[in-house]
Amino acid sequence: MTEPATVAPPRHGPATPLDIDGIRADFPILGTAARDGRPLVYLDNAATSQKPRQVIDAVSRFYASENANIHRGLHFLSERATAAFDVAREKVARFLGAGSPSEIVFTRGTTEAINLVAQSWGRTSLRPGDEVLVTEMEHHANLVPWQVVCEQTGAAFRAVPITDRGELNLDAFDRLLTDRTRLFAVGHVSNALGTMNPVRELAVRARARGALVLVDGAQSAPHFPIDVAELGCDFFACSGHKLFGPTGIGVLYGRKAILDEMPPWQTGGDMVERVTLEGSTWAPPPARFEAGTPPIAEVIGLAAAIDYVERVGLDVIGHREGELLGRATELVRAIPGVRLVGTAREKAAVLSFVLDGVHPHDVGTVLDDEGVAVRAGHHCAQPVMRRFGVPATVRASFAFYNTADEIDALVRGVERARAVFG
Ligand code: ALA
Repeated sequence: MTEPATVAPPRHGPATPLDIDGIRADFPILGTAARDGRPLVYLDNAATSQKPRQVIDAVSRFYASENANIHRGLHFLSERATAAFDVAREKVARFLGAGSPSEIVFTRGTTEAINLVAQSWGRTSLRPGDEVLVTEMEHHANLVPWQVVCEQTGAAFRAVPITDRGELNLDAFDRLLTDRTRLFAVGHVSNALGTMNPVRELAVRARARGALVLVDGAQSAPHFPIDVAELGCDFFACSGHKLFGPTGIGVLYGRKAILDEMPPWQTGGDMVERVTLEGSTWAPPPARFEAGTPPIAEVIGLAAAIDYVERVGLDVIGHREGELLGRATELVRAIPGVRLVGTAREKAAVLSFVLDGVHPHDVGTVLDDEGVAVRAGHHCAQPVMRRFGVPATVRASFAFYNTADEIDALVRGVERARAVFG
């Protein structure tokens, strides 16, 4: 396996110093204890990130003093909740660089956003002879929905292979992208490898062939600024809970002209224009795709999370995480028996590795004993594991509130796992 000789320097943003103690004080859980009273070292941010008090307070304030259903009531509380909900949609649109709030659909998460596109656009647009192109490094959420809709429609499912570093094989991409490709679905940052894909260049090539481009931004939106117009994608999906917001809320950005043509996926209240016993007509997007009572408190919490990361600065966050990743990469790879899985030249916030002769779950258990929370497993990316010939990896994933001391705790834990099992 090829590994770069040196650790790449951080690539995002200015080296603005952060008031890290102040930031950590905003996240109550970071001050709590893990197993046996050890200080918690939370390095599982790719699975879900922790929530600042500002988000927790926004959600509890909503329930304590603003809770009502939206768009339905004419009463005071409903008006207030509706206004907060609408402001949140505007905020998300601005945060992602969308042209208008009507291009923002609220979903339960990235997974639901991708399933929405597959089952609404895909199910009605794909035909036998068409192709959907994904990559070998996709999370199952950006792979299985496409397999299923290809089975349903007779379209062909193709995947771009990855290299030994865990980068996309761009020659293969160019070969697999054809005039039959109707949609290219790609992760912005791989949750299993940390690879940052060159989405802008890929989108230019895909759209030149007439394909739509969907970007799974679950692992990118929390780490650096996103601008869907600059990326040139047609769809962008991300999750609130990885973005320091609540669970149960996600976002689908869709280009207006495409959303306008898409049929509903789920039906019910609030997504219709007119209902008679003879038939129904649909509301325009985004309401067309938001049947039923939406996750109102979660949307309010997501807006508070966006306020928070914007106050810190997404470019500053990217820089700090680049430094943390650089340090972790250097120290972990120096431990005898460690093999890094995913050594792309452009990476963000994820360090995956295996330790010779020790199952990743055992490494995870030793780390847990030390208070260090990581994920050990296939990370819902089984094709990636197969590509690298491992059943699982240990994955440390970083957020801007992590510290160099926490990385040292990770390193001590891996060394202990080696001593115990190696
Ligand atoms: N997709 C999340 C992860 O990578 C859950 O851990």
